[in-house]
Amino acid sequence: MVDLARFPRVRLTLGPTPLHPLRNLSEALGGPELWIKRDDQTGLATGGNKTRKLEFLIGEALAQGASRVVTHGATQSNHVRQTIAAANLHRLRSTVLLETRVSGADSDYLENGNVLLDRILGAEIETRPAGLDMNAELRPLVERYAAAGQKAYAIPGGGSNPIGALGYVLAAQELIAQADDLGLVVDHVVVASGSAGTQAGLVVGLVGSQARVPALGVSVRQPRDVQEANVRALARATWERLELRGAFPDEAVVANADYVGPGYGVSTPQSLEAIRLLARHEGILLDPVYTAKGFAGLIDLVRKGVFRKGQNVVFLHTGGSAGLFAYRADLTRAEAK
Ligand SMILES: Cc1ncc(COP(=O)(O)O)c(C=O)c1O
Repeated sequence: MVDLARFPRVRLTLGPTPLHPLRNLSEALGGPELWIKRDDQTGLATGGNKTRKLEFLIGEALAQGASRVVTHGATQSNHVRQTIAAANLHRLRSTVLLETRVSGADSDYLENGNVLLDRILGAEIETRPAGLDMNAELRPLVERYAAAGQKAYAIPGGGSNPIGALGYVLAAQELIAQADDLGLVVDHVVVASGSAGTQAGLVVGLVGSQARVPALGVSVRQPRDVQEANVRALARATWERLELRGAFPDEAVVANADYVGPGYGVSTPQSLEAIRLLARHEGILLDPVYTAKGFAGLIDLVRKGVFRKGQNVVFLHTGGSAGLFAYRADLTRAEAK
């Protein structure tokens, strides 16, 4: 096991998240036994994967004496929503930059879903046009607060740095322990991969614990080579931060970018089908931007026989269902067909 006790951390996640079988959907697809790890149930303001990263990021912010956090994300960012909630709980103020990354958005996208929750949670919200270096946009903000006598702690997009990724090193260990308790041999873990921290932490946790479980990241934005390079760079940095022995094995990082469709945050027939299938068979809600594409990849790989009968495949549900309300038009159209 990888020792994480020396890193500053606050508790945000409500206990281990469940790992349970998807019996109905496994039967309907007729392939491997499908399982789901419920990180949509982390508990922080509708939950999701950022909660685990924020345990270490907020821990670090408090250790540095910050009174505010600043971060950014796309308009419907789940990371931003969870960051504001975590900051509230630890009496930090928050300022968030929302990047208008998805073009041609309607009023649901611009104001409902995560944006509505951001407003309820109460942050200072600024918007930025698409295409800027958003991590760089945080710097003048930090300086602005410093000039006003406030220490602001900058959290990169998606909470994806070697500190945030520690949350998924822990999650990997949690998964290994749960599978062990169940006597479950996990053949594959599938996860949606965006800013890379979840997959990087997961892989470091799996490899660092000597679990022989391959993790597949389904890219929601970047082509395969870019995504693998991003995840590898972060996995290596996390590995070094943990001072694990030897070099990080680059080959442990595998991404598939076949399910991005026309672009980030744009629904595809497969992502809409994935939402429908998991809802109708299991009563579980995916999100339109990340997990729907990740799960669409899983379904397709089952149908293609890449994931086979007799295997156990775990989908890591990283949350985000609040985003469904921002995609009302797409989802309503899909249900009308
Ligand atoms: C619901 C959901 N799933 C998956 C991801 C991808 O995680 P990461 O950005 O760590 O790759 C995100 C990130 O924003 C997310 O909000």
